Amino acid sequence: IVLIVFGLIIVITRTSAAENSSGTASSAFLGKLLVVPMDGSHWVGVKALAQEMGRRGHRVTVVIPEVSIRMGPGKHYETVTYPVPYDKAYVDSVMASHIDVIKKTAQSFTEKIKNRFAQIQKITSLIHTGAESLLFNDSLISHLAQQGFDAVLTDPMVPTGSLVAWKLGLPTINLLRGIPCFMDVKSAGCPSPPSYVPRFFTGYTDKMSFKERTVNTLVALLEPLMCRLLYWHFDNIAYQFLGEEVGIAEVLSESAIWLMSIHTSLDYPVLKFTHTRTHTITSEKVFFAVLIVSCH
Ligand SMILES: *[C@@H]1O[C@H](CO)[C@@H](O)[C@H](O)[C@H]1NC(C)=O
Ligand SMILES: *[C@@H]1O[C@H](CO)[C@@H](O)[C@H](O)[C@H]1NC(C)=O
Repeated sequence: IVLIVFGLIIVITRTSAAENSSGTASSAFLGKLLVVPMDGSHWVGVKALAQEMGRRGHRVTVVIPEVSIRMGPGKHYETVTYPVPYDKAYVDSVMASHIDVIKKTAQSFTEKIKNRFAQIQKITSLIHTGAESLLFNDSLISHLAQQGFDAVLTDPMVPTGSLVAWKLGLPTINLLRGIPCFMDVKSAGCPSPPSYVPRFFTGYTDKMSFKERTVNTLVALLEPLMCRLLYWHFDNIAYQFLGEEVGIAEVLSESAIWLMSIHTSLDYPVLKFTHTRTHTITSEKVFFAVLIVSCH
C-alpha cells in the first residue's frame, strides 16, 4: 500500500467567476448532501464546498447550532439550526479571552499554563455541548433520517457529523486540515513512518536530519495517548448516541473519502510533494486546494 495523492481535484478560487460560469448540473446524478460543519476557520472551506455543490444542482442541507462563531446561511444551500444551551455573548467571551490568553505576556509561566489550560477546557466544553445538543436532539435526528440523504460532508476533527453518518448509515466525505494526533492518517489506513512523515506542530518536511527524526519519532510515539485525551469525551458520546461499543477511531475508519485541504495561509507541511504544489497555487491566487488521499 502506498500513499497516493491523486492530484488537485477541486480548486476553488477567490474570484467569483465561478458564480456564473459553466458547470451547472454537469451530470445526470443530483444528490442530497447533508453537511455538518465545524465552527471557526474550518467553516470557510466546508461552506465553499456546500455552496458549490448547491450551485451545481444538488440539494444541500447544512446543520448548524443557533449560536456559533461564524457559521450561518449562504447561497445555494438550506440551513437547519438547533438550539444550544449557551448564548452568543458567552461564545464571544470565550473567544475574546482566548485571544487575551495568547497576548498576555506579563504573567508568570505557571500562571500562563493555568490560564491556557482553563481556556482549552472552556473551548472543549463548548464543542462537546454543541455536539450533544445536535446528537441528543431526537426529533432533529429522526427528521434528518427521513430526508433520504446520499452522503454526509463534515470535518471529522470534531466528529459530530461522522457520528450522524454512522447512525444514519451514510457514507462520509471528510474535508479537513488534519487531526493533531494523526488519527485521520491512521483511520484512512495510510502508512506514516516517522522517519519520513513530519508530525503536526513540528514544522518539519519529509527531509529530516537525524535529530529531527528522533524528535519526530518521539512525537509519533505520543500520538495514541494524545488521541485518547482528545477524543475521550467523544468516545463516551459515541457510546451513548450509537448504543454500541464503537469509538471515534473506528467510526472515522469507515469514512468513504478523505479530502485534505491545504490552506496557503497556514502552510501545513504535509509531504514535500504537496508543499511544492501549494506554492504553485499560491501564485494563482487560489484560496485553498483539496487533495484526495487514498491509501487503499
Ligand atoms: C453571467 O453569464 C452571462 C452569460 O454567460 C453574462 O452575460 C453575464 O454578464 C454574466 N454575469 C456575471 C455577473 O458575470
Ligand atoms: C431539536 O431541534 C429542533 C430544531 O431543529 C428544535 O425545534 C427543538 O426544540 C430541539 N429539541 C430539543 C429537545 O432541544
